[in-house]
Amino acid sequence: MVLWIGTSWKMTKTQTEAIAFASRLRIGAAAGGWPRVQPFVVPPATAISVVRDALGPDSPFVVGAQNAHWEDVGAWTGEVSVPQVADAGATLVEIGHSERREHFGETDRTVNWKVRAVLRHGLTALVCVGEPAEVRAAGGAREHVLSQVAAALDGVPGGSRVLLAYEPVWAIGEKGREPAIDEIAEVTQALDAEYGGVMTALLYGGSVSTANARDLLHTPGVTGLFVGRSAWDVNGYLHLLRIAADVAQEAGEVAAATVPR
Ligand code: PGA
Repeated sequence: MVLWIGTSWKMTKTQTEAIAFASRLRIGAAAGGWPRVQPFVVPPATAISVVRDALGPDSPFVVGAQNAHWEDVGAWTGEVSVPQVADAGATLVEIGHSERREHFGETDRTVNWKVRAVLRHGLTALVCVGEPAEVRAAGGAREHVLSQVAAALDGVPGGSRVLLAYEPVWAIGEKGREPAIDEIAEVTQALDAEYGGVMTALLYGGSVSTANARDLLHTPGVTGLFVGRSAWDVNGYLHLLRIAADVAQEAGEVAAATVPR
């Protein structure tokens, strides 16, 4: 089992700050890294190429973009395309984060177009889904999320490089509420049952911290974490990577001990 541990910096960090962060990651990787962990960072578009360079050649870190347009080129002022973010050094594209759905008109339909564009160019799609508080309160979380994923993956062939990030809207950001494991397990189990054979990994995101990461990584179906605030300081991110490496190692030992001899 590989645990995917990544952070989106959202609209934070200058190039200088991004390079300083990436340089620390490079040192951590050179010092042995994090076995059975797939780390990734998702800088703002302005810092993708400098982060890629600062991480150096053969880095274990995947570098992503926070968004990309579904068209390859054209008159779309303010947008960047998949070929452009790939050119800057991204091999993964985050799509459909709740902040983009809420503030920038992202819909299930545009998410699907973007997923297809990302896969068409051979990059990995990180698809974010999650229910708002009122849907959760009405008991519709599982249904809402399954329908978002079905729409996002419409027409996408099995075996594509797709990561799902389950991020309940009510758990994200400064006003977010830390979830109970039971609350998210209901949804992650359903996603695992439906898409376990299709997706590359199932990440949880929303108020992840060094205090709850270990428990979150033991949630049924969860094979990674997608982190905002707690990983914006490089020490926080390095701490989370260490926790994940420990969890992955323990899981490996348990698996080895239970293999019949
Ligand atoms: P947060 O953000 O960790 O700061 O809650 C998570 C996210 O938006 O992915």
